[in-house]
Amino acid sequence: MKTVTTRTLQALKHAGETFSCLTAYDASFARIASQTGIEVLLVGDSLGMVLQGHSTTLPVTLDDICYHTRCVARGKEKSLLMADLPFMSNTSTERLLQDAGVLMRAGAEMIKIEGEAWLAEGIRELTRRGVPVCAHMGLTPQSVHQFGGYRVQGRNSSQAEQMLADARALVDAGASIILLECVPAHLGRIMRDTLEVPVIGIGAGVEVDGQILVMHDVLGVSPRSPRFAKNFLAESDSIAAAFGAYHEAVKTRRFPSEEHSF
Ligand code: KIV
Repeated sequence: MKTVTTRTLQALKHAGETFSCLTAYDASFARIASQTGIEVLLVGDSLGMVLQGHSTTLPVTLDDICYHTRCVARGKEKSLLMADLPFMSNTSTERLLQDAGVLMRAGAEMIKIEGEAWLAEGIRELTRRGVPVCAHMGLTPQSVHQFGGYRVQGRNSSQAEQMLADARALVDAGASIILLECVPAHLGRIMRDTLEVPVIGIGAGVEVDGQILVMHDVLGVSPRSPRFAKNFLAESDSIAAAFGAYHEAVKTRRFPSEEHSF
């Protein structure tokens, strides 16, 4: 595999090929995931749940993400490294720029931010300064208390239209990737077909440009596995083989199937 960049992901979209993404939090797992050909590694604030044992991602700090980004950057090979901006990094454009700068210096090659059209100004300023941005939409876990739980988003047509309009605004502002979490599969397909940038899904159906899962779900070690996840270690004899099976299932569009979609 050649070094993966935002251009690689854009080219895969144009060629109609899918790509796989996985969370990673340390050097050893990052190395194995990279070696299996997984195109994107995310240091997600899911670390608050799967590493630290919290029930939400809200307690995760910039220092936490920064520490794990440094670890993953040392281990990963050709995969693109994305890092999450934690809860409340978006209180002002100035803070967004500062926090993103810390993560980019730690080794991130792209920043992920949760939000909607109101993030456009921040995204414009980040991209102006050379920071590629992935905008995370749909079920944004940092808003879990506002949603009243981890619930599928964009189920009715007005919500879906609003999400599409918001995604367009963020792409116009410079977002290089849209990540959709827990939305109906038909909305994932519409986003993929409408937006010129790659659309990554987690619980967004098979008809998007890329898939992402939390590493602990792929290995079946999460305390609770969401409907959209699959334990690939159950049918593999090593961690490397499980990562490889996930990558292969995404590339051949065998994952996610209907049972993992909404
Ligand atoms: O924090 C995270 O790991 C994420 C993925 C689930 C997309 O946001």
